[in-house]
Amino acid sequence: MPSLIFLLLLILIITSTSTLEFRYHSNREIEQILTQISLSNPDITHLYSIGKSVRGQQLWVLALGLRPRQHTLGIPEFKYVGNMHGNEVLGRELLLHLADELVQGYRSGESWSVQLLNSTRIHVLPTMNPDGFDEARTHCQYSQGRYNSNGVDLNRNFPDAFAGPKNQRQLTEKEREAEVRAVIGWLQTETFVLSANLHGGALVASYPYDNSNGGSEQVHRSSVAPDDDVFVHLAKVYSQNHGSMHRGDVCNDGLTFPDGITNGYQWYPLSGGMQDYNYIWAQCLEITLEVSCCKFPPVSQLPVMWTENRKSLLAFIKQVHLGVKGQVFDSSGHAVRDAIVEVEGRTNLCPFRTDRHGEYYRLLLPGNYSFTVRYPGHQVLTETLEVPYGPNHYTAMKHDFHLRRAVDNATQATTSRVSPTPTCNYTTGVDSSGTLVVHAWTELSMLLALVAAVQSMMC
Ligand SMILES: *[C@@H]1O[C@H](CO)[C@@H](O)[C@H](O)[C@H]1NC(C)=O
Ligand SMILES: *[C@@H]1O[C@H](CO)[C@@H](O)[C@H](O)[C@H]1NC(C)=O
Ligand SMILES: *[C@@H]1O[C@H](CO)[C@@H](O)[C@H](O)[C@H]1NC(C)=O
Ligand SMILES: *[C@@H]1O[C@H](CO)[C@@H](O)[C@H](O)[C@H]1NC(C)=O
Ligand SMILES: [Zn+2]
Repeated sequence: MPSLIFLLLLILIITSTSTLEFRYHSNREIEQILTQISLSNPDITHLYSIGKSVRGQQLWVLALGLRPRQHTLGIPEFKYVGNMHGNEVLGRELLLHLADELVQGYRSGESWSVQLLNSTRIHVLPTMNPDGFDEARTHCQYSQGRYNSNGVDLNRNFPDAFAGPKNQRQLTEKEREAEVRAVIGWLQTETFVLSANLHGGALVASYPYDNSNGGSEQVHRSSVAPDDDVFVHLAKVYSQNHGSMHRGDVCNDGLTFPDGITNGYQWYPLSGGMQDYNYIWAQCLEITLEVSCCKFPPVSQLPVMWTENRKSLLAFIKQVHLGVKGQVFDSSGHAVRDAIVEVEGRTNLCPFRTDRHGEYYRLLLPGNYSFTVRYPGHQVLTETLEVPYGPNHYTAMKHDFHLRRAVDNATQATTSRVSPTPTCNYTTGVDSSGTLVVHAWTELSMLLALVAAVQSMMC
């Protein structure tokens, strides 16, 4: 029956090219859409779950790339996370449209899509809090649906490098929510290089740190990360490519953000946030995007909001190609894991290390940088690299480090001053050569933080 086969093929073609509607989709529909995309595009997509919500809903991730199923040497891993707060819903739809757009662009041979998917593995998690979404009311400001099914704010539930006996309390493992455990586990499966986390209730790109304990990172009212210059650049790439975010005062709520960006702590301090966790513990530079003044925008506004965000979403992904990438080899030519790769002048709380492929990725703005590489039994290697601007060519500069065996104890590198990334623990304070010193918060800064948090109505 060739005509039947033809008919089936036609149906398949029609359904696989049907356009995604501008409306809100239920969790079930998101699952169906992602499944549909992955079945129609098995060559460039891969659907997987990172775990389940408290009520047992799968946390689906669609990976897109020319090798979507596994990591490829030299191809950086990128991610977008939506709907962490269940009532901040625009991110869900933006990420569905983004996945759709990338796939359609690739199918029609558009170079921006082909080049992006050829150079990057892009992971998209449209909803991190499906249970919260199910409770959300279509209201612009109320917080119903913000929390997960246990009533917990997921963006306060991550381990916090700044929390400690004298600061906010460190949560115990038992207090860690299912959705947060899923993300922490996800971060251990790959070395993600760049990420953004989509919220609503404001229009601004916010970057780490979100927290501080009054150590040297606190500068005036900001909490400044070692890679502050890179974070400011990343946030500006989003805001300046966005239809209106760069204006900084769009929401008519009395808040003004110069260039449409802000240091997270300066806006309002928070403990247990996801972006600080990504950066400090998983060496993934993450920023928080507040993409709509209204947390649950009217359906009629979705097409305009997609248009406003489309270019920024794509431009931000390309920034994963900033800086330098490569491998570290030991004296017998093997790529080694857990070699410490540091850049002078930017000492990370948990030093960046090579992953299980012996790879490192280091996002840097163009300039000259002095790299120091340490690995047990080998001489400390220091090299200066001249770093160009990579995003326009869809690749960071490639540079491998080749280590030489230590000839005596004096030149031998030691990594004992730090422990491996997942257990990197600085909550008790380190001396000035190390990093961070714990100070008690003064009553005044507590009060300021509280006032700021209330003013911002929490996004
Ligand atoms: C993918 O990128 C490689 C270089 O990294 C290039 O040789 C190849 O032609 C590219 N393929 C496509 C389809 O653009
Ligand atoms: C980096 O170093 C090179 C060679 O020493 C020099 O020509 C160049 O101007 C430097 N670039 C910057 C941004 O300092
Ligand atoms: C090197 O260190 C080891 C122990 O770490 C020690 O036993 C040995 O004597 C040292 N050698 C030299 C040349 O200092
Ligand atoms: C950090 O170390 C302290 C003391 O060893 C321990 O009590 C605390 O639980 C650790 N925190 C984390 C997040 O591992
Ligand atoms: Zn939020």
